[in-house]
This record gives sequence, structure tokens and C-alpha cells, in this order.
Amino acid sequence: MDGDNGQPHISPPIQPSPAMNSSEDGQKEEEDHVMSEIHLGCPPKFSGSFISHFTFSIPPDVEYIGSKYEYEVVDDSKQHQEVSVDDDGDLALPRRKKNSKDKFVVDIQHNVTSSILKVGLQVWRAELVLADFVLHRIFTSSEFDGIVAVELGAGTGLVGMLLARVAKTVFLTDHGVEILENCAATLDLNSAMLPSKTSVYVRELDWKASWPPTQHDSAPCHSYAWNPSEFEELERASLLVAADVIYSDDLTDALFSTLERLMSHGLKKVLYLALEKRYNFSLDDLDVVANGYSCFRSYVRDESGDAEHEELQNRSLCAFVGTRIDLTEIPQYANNYDRGQDVELWQIKYAKEVSNQCSNVAQGSSPTL
Ligand SMILES: C[S@@+](CC[C@H](N)C(=O)[O-])C[C@H]1O[C@@H](n2cnc3c(N)ncnc32)[C@H](O)[C@@H]1O
Repeated sequence: MDGDNGQPHISPPIQPSPAMNSSEDGQKEEEDHVMSEIHLGCPPKFSGSFISHFTFSIPPDVEYIGSKYEYEVVDDSKQHQEVSVDDDGDLALPRRKKNSKDKFVVDIQHNVTSSILKVGLQVWRAELVLADFVLHRIFTSSEFDGIVAVELGAGTGLVGMLLARVAKTVFLTDHGVEILENCAATLDLNSAMLPSKTSVYVRELDWKASWPPTQHDSAPCHSYAWNPSEFEELERASLLVAADVIYSDDLTDALFSTLERLMSHGLKKVLYLALEKRYNFSLDDLDVVANGYSCFRSYVRDESGDAEHEELQNRSLCAFVGTRIDLTEIPQYANNYDRGQDVELWQIKYAKEVSNQCSNVAQGSSPTL
């Protein structure tokens, strides 16, 4: 989102370093501050928590026709033929039909900087790319209507809240009370725009904690613990979404372990995962490398075939198959942000037929929900 000078803020990305993988450096993680590129409307030099208004608009190539939206890829050659001049000799360009729902605002409580442990207090670029994708599917199809959806590593929970416009139930999940509280506060800010029939829960799902996550029977042990019926509803989820959760190898291992537990049970699930490739100089490789990305690719067999990562994938006998989504085909709904060059969006499915051989995920642990 635009900064105070009208340009997106360029800021140091999360720097995954050996320190992020080591518990003895926990204090360093607490002290090192990182800043996302997304801090719309925050006053200059502002630090701490801020409420921003994120505007989403229906792009011009998504037309409201009859009673629903349709996406028409603009054919340049056709456009040229349609241009004509009016009585004054001015160009008469075809105008799209406006609909009252063309624009809406989501209020997000977020921080401008945070420690590495609290990056979920910020909004990251991949979340907005995933928001574009989810909105595009919501406006141009009915595939998310009435579903149960889960956002993992939700942070402020923006994407999950957008899904709540059409889903039956949405779980916004993350870990740590401060991040969950911030997510719940953001949900409160937007409760008026959500359909009353949709249930939205903020719940703790820590990929590194024991499985199943903490549940309560009658008296809640904390506000973000699952109750047994909600936990059962997880089995009926058909959609998982996650943005910017690939930045440290030990977290990626824990995430895929959780994904295997979720995706190998209940209704068939599909995951849409948006990630930002962050390049850093590596002393080990003596080269600039995308930290975290290779670890992610070691878990996902690319259905379209990718020679560069094939060797890694054969070694790990992946239980997940993925397809990279072409972002040029997803119009931008979130206003005033720059997608950059390094965000990728993946559709990932659990490949049951190879899962039993898979030695890379959750070895020796019970995968039952
Ligand atoms: C870079 S932030 C992305 C937040 C949000 N999805 C976005 O893109 O704006 C990474 C998220 O992963 C969450 N996370 C990190 N470790 C986790 C764990 N062990 N279990 C669950 N979530 C975790 C963080 O709390 C944070 O919300």
C-alpha cells in the first residue's frame, strides 16, 4: 500500500538467518525488528498498532452481467475495433456497467514493524495477492459458497474475513495470544460487513505444538481454544489458505506436518498458498539464494514438472502435488499495492496414493484428527 510519499515503502524483508532456526537465539528473534511493505495510511514514523482502511474494487475486466460477475480477458485487437468517436470528435470508449458493490473497505488493525516472533501483527504482500485470488473466485464463481475454510498463519485474518462473505464457517488460525487477540479485534471491526449466517472463529493452531490442539469441553481454558464440535468441523473443511508462511525451514517442516494431518482426513481439501521469495546472500552457497523456497519445494511435487527442483522432490517422496497459478490471470482487487515480482501462488493437493511412502512429514506421529 502507498506510504506517506505516495510510493510503496521499501523495507527490509524478513531475513531468515541461522538465528531464526535456533532456539538459543530466541532473544534475538524477540529483538530483531522487521517491517512489511504494507502499511497503508500509517502516519510517518508511526510505530505500534494502527487501524487502516483497505479498499478493494472490482477491476474493469470483471463485468457485472445480469445478476452476477463475469471475467472477460480484454482482447486488445477487439478493443481497437470498438473505439469510436462521439459528436464532438472525442474518443468514445466503452464504459462498464457500475454496480453498487463495486467497492468495499476492510478495516485492519496492524503494526508497522514487529519482532520476527510477532510478524503476524503486520500485513504482508502475499496476503494481498491471496486476497485478490480469493475475491476473484468469489466474484466469478460459486466454488467457495457455503464451504468450511481455514486460514493458517492468518495474522490479521484479512483473507479469511473475505472468505466469510460467502463461506459457511471460517477458522482464522495462528499462534500466540497477542496475534490472536489482534486478529479477533480486526474481526470485530468488520463484523457489520459479514453475513450473520457465517460463523467465524479465531482459533489457536500452532504447527509446532502437540496434536490435536488444545480443546475444551465446557469451560473454555482460553478464548482461542477449540471446542470438540469446532474441531470436528475442521474435517469438513474443503479449503485451506495461507499467505507468507514460508520463511524459515523449521516452520516449513512444522507447517507441512500440520497440513498432512489436516489434509489426510475428512473432506478432500485444497490449499492455496501465497509465498514471497526473499533473496539473501548465503555464506554457505556463496551466492544469493531464496531462503526457505527450496525447503518448500522439497514438499511439493510440481504437476507441471520443474527440472530445477526435481531432484529434491524425488528424495522426499512428496505427499503433496502443486500447480503454480499464473498471477497475470488474476486481476488486482486490492487498491494501491504493488504485487512485486517475487510472490508466487500455489494450488496444493494432498496426494494420498504416495502419502504412505512419504518419509518427509510427521514421521512416527499419529496423523489422526
Ligand atoms: C509473515 S506472517 C504472515 C501473516 C499473514 N498471513 C499475512 O501474510 O499478512 C507469518 C504468520 O505465520 C504465523 N506463524 C508463525 N509460526 C507459527 C506456528 N508455529 N504456528 C502457527 N502460525 C505460525 C505467524 O504468527 C504469522 O501470523
